Amino acid sequence: MDSGLEDIVAAETVLSDVDGQNGRLIIRGWPVEMLAASMAFEDVAHLLWQGFFDDLPDVAELGARIGAAREEVFDLVADLPAGLDGVSYLRAGWALLPDDESIETAIRLAAAGPVLTAAAVRRRRGEGAIAPDRGLSQSTDFLRMLTGNQAGQAEARALDAYLVTVCDHGLNASTFAARVVASTRAGLVSAAVAGISALKGPLHGGAPGPVLDMIDAIGSPANAERWIEGALNRGDRLMGFGHRVYRVRDPRADALKAAVARLPGTTGRLEFAEHIEQAILGRLAAKYPKRRLETNVEFYTALLLEALGLPREAFTAVFACGRVLGWTAHAREQIGEGRLVRPRSVYRGPVPAAA
Ligand code: CMC
Repeated sequence: MDSGLEDIVAAETVLSDVDGQNGRLIIRGWPVEMLAASMAFEDVAHLLWQGFFDDLPDVAELGARIGAAREEVFDLVADLPAGLDGVSYLRAGWALLPDDESIETAIRLAAAGPVLTAAAVRRRRGEGAIAPDRGLSQSTDFLRMLTGNQAGQAEARALDAYLVTVCDHGLNASTFAARVVASTRAGLVSAAVAGISALKGPLHGGAPGPVLDMIDAIGSPANAERWIEGALNRGDRLMGFGHRVYRVRDPRADALKAAVARLPGTTGRLEFAEHIEQAILGRLAAKYPKRRLETNVEFYTALLLEALGLPREAFTAVFACGRVLGWTAHAREQIGEGRLVRPRSVYRGPVPAAA
């Protein structure tokens, strides 16, 4: 038995396919690179939810309803303590939403992501939360609620590229957690809260903040080889590298690298990061010649979210703002299966003494 359930198939899905041998990710028929280059958050919400809600509106109406829901959920901010990190704040805020399996609940979860994440960032800094504006797109409003200024087109486009890139990814740990909870018929809010709780771990969605810590600790190109060798000798895992499914480069890494490169003012930082990436890949190849460890999504996530001015303690919450689309779609897909997820374990503990 593999305690990591590697290679165990636990669901059939029409949502996404992760091809780990060839480094391809297909989301509802679209290669992730194409989604990242052309779609906005609202388009992908529509794409993922299609077929799972009888009353799903068309994409324009869906965008309008997500915008309206951002304004409705802003009241939650008053109920939450300032000072929490992004994930803790978002998870606590989501948990306060009414829970059921409806499209309204899916929309509220999606809408609350940016509202709560932006409020968490500002309130942690001692600033007031900024109210949402339903007339803006989700990404444009997200950036405005963070900074108080109208976002540039390039920045909003980069945030869309990120949210779209991470919207779904097969049966990853957080999606599995969301599906298990959904199978009990607990509701979409409970499924999303389970999802974000699994996501926050550093082996899953908690890696991008530590990626920046690593880049900062390395400090200069001249220090890269020495620092990496020291970390590997200590047995540390290098954040942003390795993957359970990909045996080649994670295709999301390149989609996000391209998005960073399109942002003004990122050339120097990107060159430094690329230098570190190459040094790490070289060391990992030498240490693990039989198991290819490649760059995963989190390495360039860190660079992208940093370039958008987000603090590292909020990175995983922003990940959840995109992945919530996948969690809610998978939850509905699992509910459609009509079957409680309930595997078995093998007992290895003591047995009662014979009478
Ligand atoms: N740095 C150093 N060594 C590594 C790394 C790494 N990033 N990843 C794997 N290894 C080593 C690991 O220690 C093991 O060595 P040994 O055989 O000596 O014990 C060997 O490579 C095989 O690794 P594994 O434990 O079988 O790999 P896994 O499939 O269980 O782990 C992983 C996958 C993502 C948890 C792991 O690669 C890792 O911890 N990476 C760093 C954290 C990270 O970047 N997480 C984000 C994942 S991508 C986001 C997502 O899709 O969720």
